[in-house]
Amino acid sequence: MQIKKAVIPAAGLGTRVLPASKAVPKEMLPIIDKPAIQYIVEEAVQAGITDILIITNRGKGVIEDHFDHAVELEGLLRERGKGQLADTVAATADLANIYYIRQKETRGLGDAVLRAREFIGNDPFAVLYGDDVIFGEDPAIGQLIRAYERYGKSAVGIQTVTEEQIQKYSSMKLTPLQDNYYEITDMIEKPRLDQIFSLYSILGRCVLEPEIFDILSQTPPGAGGELQLTDAMKTLANRSGVVGVDFTGTRFDMGNKFGILQANIEVGLCHPEVAAPLRAYLKELAARLS
Ligand code: UTP
Repeated sequence: MQIKKAVIPAAGLGTRVLPASKAVPKEMLPIIDKPAIQYIVEEAVQAGITDILIITNRGKGVIEDHFDHAVELEGLLRERGKGQLADTVAATADLANIYYIRQKETRGLGDAVLRAREFIGNDPFAVLYGDDVIFGEDPAIGQLIRAYERYGKSAVGIQTVTEEQIQKYSSMKLTPLQDNYYEITDMIEKPRLDQIFSLYSILGRCVLEPEIFDILSQTPPGAGGELQLTDAMKTLANRSGVVGVDFTGTRFDMGNKFGILQANIEVGLCHPEVAAPLRAYLKELAARLS
């Protein structure tokens, strides 16, 4: 079964990056010259995804505008001889078939994914968290799709994080399968230090069997009073097994201030227009700091 559909939950409150995320969704905060969510859509497309459902809420209409044609702007740019820029602007409207649904109340990531039930139907599907941008040669979600094809089981993207970070994420109990694949036997969302299984955490990507929807609809609210996707994936791991993929790629958390800074510096250092001046600036700055 080829995985063609993806869900991008982007309906969170983004409280950690307020007031920047008051009127602009955190998923639309820029990394140099593109909003975070565009990199995520591009990753999905690179991995063969053709249909994407973005979960939005009130005030996230700018996401829809971004992936639509800006006819007047494109026309003006062409009139002024800026055809190449017009093409770049237009291309964002044709990346994939993008659909939207609103999560009417912010009830957690699990609840956001549950909104995708009708759109997904009975096929396995990909989930890319709207505030986790991952850069790498091999798209992270593509690595998970390959794991799904190999084992015939749901797959989650994992990497090790620090003790401080894991308390804000999830912790995996796992046993090695082979290479960078692990069997996940248990997991916990936002663990206290004495509840940690390992420093492996799910970071923003999974491929799920549609069975997750029934599980989600029977899962009670968890950490923070929200319906947690991790709690439902834990049930899925017990019932049908879940494979953890220690994926290659660097992940930036656009839901926190430092993550946004890091993403801009790292991407800036590879960007043809700003790499050279940024590098010179960072060297000069480092000399001033030491
Ligand atoms: P987060 O937990 O990082 O988002 O969810 P948040 O709730 O916006 O964060 P803070 O703690 O208030 O800063 C991960 C992804 O899930 C989406 C978010 O938009 C983000 O992309 N999400 C979260 C939803 O779509 N709905 C929700 O109810 C919660």
